[in-house]
Amino acid sequence: MLVIIKNQREELEREAARIVARAVRRNPSLTLGLATGATMRGVYAELVRIHREEGLDFSDATTFNLDEYVGLPPGHPQSFRHFMMENFFRHVNVNPLNINIPDGTVRSNFDEYCASYEASIRNAGGIDLQILGIGRNGHIGFNEPASSLGSRTRLKAFSQETLDDNRKFFAAGEEMPKCAITVGIGTILEARHIVLLAAGSAKARAVARAIEGALTASCTASALQLHPDVTCIIDEEAAAELAQKDYYRRVVELTAQFTPSRLW
Ligand code: F6R
Repeated sequence: MLVIIKNQREELEREAARIVARAVRRNPSLTLGLATGATMRGVYAELVRIHREEGLDFSDATTFNLDEYVGLPPGHPQSFRHFMMENFFRHVNVNPLNINIPDGTVRSNFDEYCASYEASIRNAGGIDLQILGIGRNGHIGFNEPASSLGSRTRLKAFSQETLDDNRKFFAAGEEMPKCAITVGIGTILEARHIVLLAAGSAKARAVARAIEGALTASCTASALQLHPDVTCIIDEEAAAELAQKDYYRRVVELTAQFTPSRLW
């Protein structure tokens, strides 16, 4: 894992957007794996700016989102589809036919639906670049603690921590989703390149467990240790519990000197 520590959250967002932009310029017909959430908002804003001001062209790209709540009515403002439309797709030129987001309105035959989502990823040639956030409990996608590290796209119930984190997004008295369709850890690990983003002190423990802890299903992001091409971009607050910060900084310096292409 390459660990890049940025002073400010804004620098992290710019760096992540720069990586996506460079990947799209190198291969305009690439397949992107996308996430939602607070960490991603600034990344999409920066990508929209690059699209508008520098003409970054998404017209040949294909996208697959990691996850979607199950049980919300179509068009609900907290749905991940709504998030993606408002924060990104509405402002750039991704072909709507190439946008894939798990369908949270599915009510039956979940296994069949999830298998078809996996098949669509395979048919698109697999994910070239997967962007991930991380939950306080170490989840990536909605692969909650005790998820199989070989898991595929499936219906997943939320942990108490995720339910607590999500409560603020829903009106008092409104019924909150209790589960999501999420791609699996096995699915994520098949992406060619992975970028994990984390900002803020609430993520410090999860980041330390993911990067320096044992490989364990109780922190599913630790499975990224098995992947040969992961870049973690985190801010100082999220890096606070890492034991090897100086070492990561030296690695980045040496990488810039000897294998700059690893830094995108
Ligand atoms: C969302 C997703 C989640 C989030 C994670 C961090 O599509 O897959 O794993 O990335 O919960 O969310 P924020 O950025 O809101 O802290």
